[in-house]
Amino acid sequence: MEKEEEIEECSTACFHLVSAFLACEPPDFVISFARDFGGGFITERVQSFLWNECINKSDVKCNLPYLKRFLKKLIVEIESNGDVVLDELYEKYIFCLASVKDDDLAKGNTRMLRRFSFLFPKDCSQASSCQIFRKLEVALQCSLNMLEGDTGCSIWPSSLFLSEFVLSFPEVFSSKSCLEVGSGVGLVGVCLAQANCSKVTLTDGNLSTLANMKLNLELNQQATDVLGHTRQPNTVQCLHLPWASATENELRELMPDIILGADVIYDPLCLPHLVRVLKILLKREHLNLHLNNGSKDCPPDRRCFKSKETSSAGDLDVYVRKEKIYGNPHADHLSPGLGQRPVAYIASVIRSIDTFNCFLSLAERENLIVSDITETMKPLDLLPYVKSYQRSSVRMFKISYL
Ligand SMILES: C[S@@+](CC[C@H](N)C(=O)[O-])C[C@H]1O[C@@H](n2cnc3c(N)ncnc32)[C@H](O)[C@@H]1O
Repeated sequence: MEKEEEIEECSTACFHLVSAFLACEPPDFVISFARDFGGGFITERVQSFLWNECINKSDVKCNLPYLKRFLKKLIVEIESNGDVVLDELYEKYIFCLASVKDDDLAKGNTRMLRRFSFLFPKDCSQASSCQIFRKLEVALQCSLNMLEGDTGCSIWPSSLFLSEFVLSFPEVFSSKSCLEVGSGVGLVGVCLAQANCSKVTLTDGNLSTLANMKLNLELNQQATDVLGHTRQPNTVQCLHLPWASATENELRELMPDIILGADVIYDPLCLPHLVRVLKILLKREHLNLHLNNGSKDCPPDRRCFKSKETSSAGDLDVYVRKEKIYGNPHADHLSPGLGQRPVAYIASVIRSIDTFNCFLSLAERENLIVSDITETMKPLDLLPYVKSYQRSSVRMFKISYL
């Protein structure tokens, strides 16, 4: 169940340890949090804490393979320091050994339940130093096999980043109709449901991914959003939307204000279809546009130019439109408003520069403007304990129709 809790006093180390364990982070990372919590050692007090707050709270059958790996590493770590291991930990490990068959794991369709806690700092302007005062927990059934469901049954780094983005700037999405392409496990949709959107539609082209996504949405039904508004049940819808076969009429009927996507730019064969879908969703010809009088030039309040972009993902030979933002940088992104064109926010890890450049040239051909807003709209670090996720590898692009 999705939970939102007011948090009073708890050390950051304790939060990080529990959150990392419940999110099924790699055992080595969790063990290093346990060591931090114990001042360098996994003392008996730390072991009791692990037993009560972590192991007992994630006692679901599908997580036994993870628990088995975790306990094995933990016991080796404690024994190698010459410390005493609690009996409960040995007994649980023996139980896991008897219950988990390695054959099951080899079949490749093993699922586990990961609980991601978004930890909100007290004062958002000082995310790094501030005390945590609220958390939003999202439970997600994921596959251990990254390729299951056409890669959609596991969580990719860009969806963690895009979720932090949605929760950091809920005003961008509030009262907007939002549609995500290639939604995978549905994490972004659960976060959008927290942002008081008028409508949230999650889509994917793979049917087993879609079934898993629906299950995750049911797991995370919650009555109120992050702003305290009462939510209608089932505000999030799931839709089968394969990019290659989605018709223009079908796409036009969806009419989202904001389109989102995470880690969807990776397969060169799919890119023409993805760009076509984005173009149809972003181009609303029938709207009486206030923007720019339909001119192809930049709006007068912005200067834009093509420039060679160098990003933290490496030296990228990509050409993107740079935005100069005046006034309140966020106001510029409170889009779209009445009569404005839709925009897309696409988070992406650029694994192949050729594939990404291919996306950019297809987008340019379709009159789509791609702006890198990674530096101008930085989300809060709400998942500081997820060490398996490299935030700096994710870029955020805002796309609109010229
Ligand atoms: C790498 S996964 C990313 C999933 C999720 N957005 C995330 O970041 O965790 C790519 C997603 O795009 C979907 N996808 C890939 N090709 C597609 C296509 N041609 N039509 C629709 N969805 C597609 C996959 O099913 C998968 O869910």
